[in-house]
Amino acid sequence: MTASPHDRLTIGELATRSGLAHSALRYYEGLGLIHAERTGGGQRRYSRQTLRRLAFVRAAQQVGLSLEEVQAALAELPVDRSPTAAQWSTVALSWQSRIDEQIADLERLRTRLTGCIGCGCLSLAKCALYNPGDVQGVEGPGARKLLPQRPRTP
Ligand code: FES
Repeated sequence: MTASPHDRLTIGELATRSGLAHSALRYYEGLGLIHAERTGGGQRRYSRQTLRRLAFVRAAQQVGLSLEEVQAALAELPVDRSPTAAQWSTVALSWQSRIDEQIADLERLRTRLTGCIGCGCLSLAKCALYNPGDVQGVEGPGARKLLPQRPRTP
């Protein structure tokens, strides 16, 4: 069955319906997250299923997935038709461990924050919130992130 031209969305329609900027849509297309057909005049036309893929991208980003991880997840789903409930379920289940990790991270942050409430020192030496683990401190005292000075040209 061939889709009628009315089943396809222009980039403006897709932007309006998804709430994303044209540039974001082109960027996602470049990453292969969404796909467009081209008209004879070279204009993009998106299937209506693209809205589902964009909803998926947004949900995945809220979970904390990188765009590379989103690419991998979307590669498991059909490009131009609705995924089955089982396909959605499989992908969503794979996010469960990520969500569990985020909850654990937030609980650790809450524990550290408790000691900082009412303090406000943001001490590099002792504040676990401002300087967790003092990662740069193992290299010695003083600034460690400054770029090397460029030699002056005459
Ligand atoms: S703000 Fe003082 S210890 Fe974190």
